[in-house]
Amino acid sequence: NYYAEEYRPQFHFSPEENWLNDPNGMVYYDDEYHLFYQHNPHDNEWGPMYWGHAISEDMINWEHRPIALEPDDLGTIFSGSAVVDWNDTTGFFDGEEGLVAIFTHNGSGQKQSIAYSSDNGRSWEKYDGNPVIPPHPEINDFRDPKVFWHEETEKWVMALAAGKKIMFYDSPNLIDWNFMSEFGEGAGAQGGVWECPDLFELPIDGDPNNTKWVLQVDIGDGAIAGGSGAQYFIGDFDGTTFTSDDEPDHINWLDYGADFYAGQSFSDIPDEDGRRVMVAWMSNWLYANRVPTEVWRGSMSVPRSLELKTTDDGIIKLFQSPIEEFTKLRDKELFKIENQVVSSKEAANLLDEIEADVFELNAEIQLDQPVDFGIKVRISEENEDETVIGFSESTNELFVKRSQSDELYFSPYFDGSHAVSIDDNKIIKLQILVDKNSVEVFSQNGEYVITDLIFPRDDSRSLEFYVEDGEITINSLEIHSIKSTWN
Ligand code: FRU
Repeated sequence: NYYAEEYRPQFHFSPEENWLNDPNGMVYYDDEYHLFYQHNPHDNEWGPMYWGHAISEDMINWEHRPIALEPDDLGTIFSGSAVVDWNDTTGFFDGEEGLVAIFTHNGSGQKQSIAYSSDNGRSWEKYDGNPVIPPHPEINDFRDPKVFWHEETEKWVMALAAGKKIMFYDSPNLIDWNFMSEFGEGAGAQGGVWECPDLFELPIDGDPNNTKWVLQVDIGDGAIAGGSGAQYFIGDFDGTTFTSDDEPDHINWLDYGADFYAGQSFSDIPDEDGRRVMVAWMSNWLYANRVPTEVWRGSMSVPRSLELKTTDDGIIKLFQSPIEEFTKLRDKELFKIENQVVSSKEAANLLDEIEADVFELNAEIQLDQPVDFGIKVRISEENEDETVIGFSESTNELFVKRSQSDELYFSPYFDGSHAVSIDDNKIIKLQILVDKNSVEVFSQNGEYVITDLIFPRDDSRSLEFYVEDGEITINSLEIHSIKSTWN
């Protein structure tokens, strides 16, 4: 019985069997969203990489498809992207349109190759002139091409991870590539190699005439919560060069938890829709191969809409929120209160009647005085398990503490607490998504996000609200159970 195994995510994408890491080749075409992913079909540990495949009409309910790309003489198939070749720039489609995947072949050296599909991603042909970019003579880590059509200059642009930099190439036809520029010398977080870049333009505060470019870059080690994680730069891209607006030593983290890596955004979502939707691998290279799941290992984050917004301090930041389609999964309302002042004592019993393991919690909490408060989820009968999502007034930090989420001992790096300091904290807004083995916490309308895996006992389903020494005003607190996408 698929999807009934211990820890099996109910509303996050996971493979039927075996290993998954990065999302790849995310593209929207002909009313379908395609998700490819780094996959080892032989084992539930990382190994020879293939591209697994799934298709969806709403990015929420996925249909598993056969493997799309297999290893060959040039190597195994590492991460990459996919685009719609609307004007047959490649000549692969007899003047019609089709899908092209651009990926890294990992064999003797890392090189970039392409494959194409004329049947909506059902079958793929590798280009017989592969690789289209040979290995770099000096840089071994040379991978993860993300390609898009640059409107203004009417050409394809590729962002490629190269050591601790991003290199930009351009091409008229996805076959002949020309090196243009590089970015990254001394910029941002440098704790590990740079991987899986993405580059896209977004309106600021929803104004299509005022835009900035976002360069998303993952680092293999030394991220905010330890191990691998995602950073981004905001700046400009003129078709040749990316320039960042940030001070070189400034770091923007995409997510403050431990488990949000190798994010990629969908290509070709229509302009009328205008959304930039990102999905990331919900794990961390520190312990990904060890997490205590059987049958399958690895899952994706909830798809997130990305927006640039100006904060009250005049800073432009990337905000994330679960895509609108996610609300379709809301099921029974388990709890709801509004405008209630709650003391420490009242808080302790507030959620006594609630049992939930797969749910969404939305809250707006007003701090009339400085107090620590929070919500504990996935609590077991004897309180051995609990995951705390809390706010600490002494540090102004929002945190997720998973150090009591049952199975931790598979890795010395799993235990712990991940925090972010909240600038404007008189009112704390929370949207918390809890699945069988994860929590995603979106705060202040998506300005701050913490994504963490957890491994509680299946019957750890109690919740508790706490307020330490004082009282708070709950402007609103709502809990809904979430339907499984696999029924
Ligand atoms: C990121 C990554 C990529 C690489 C892939 C291999 O998680 O290391 O850089 O292409 O995984 O599976």
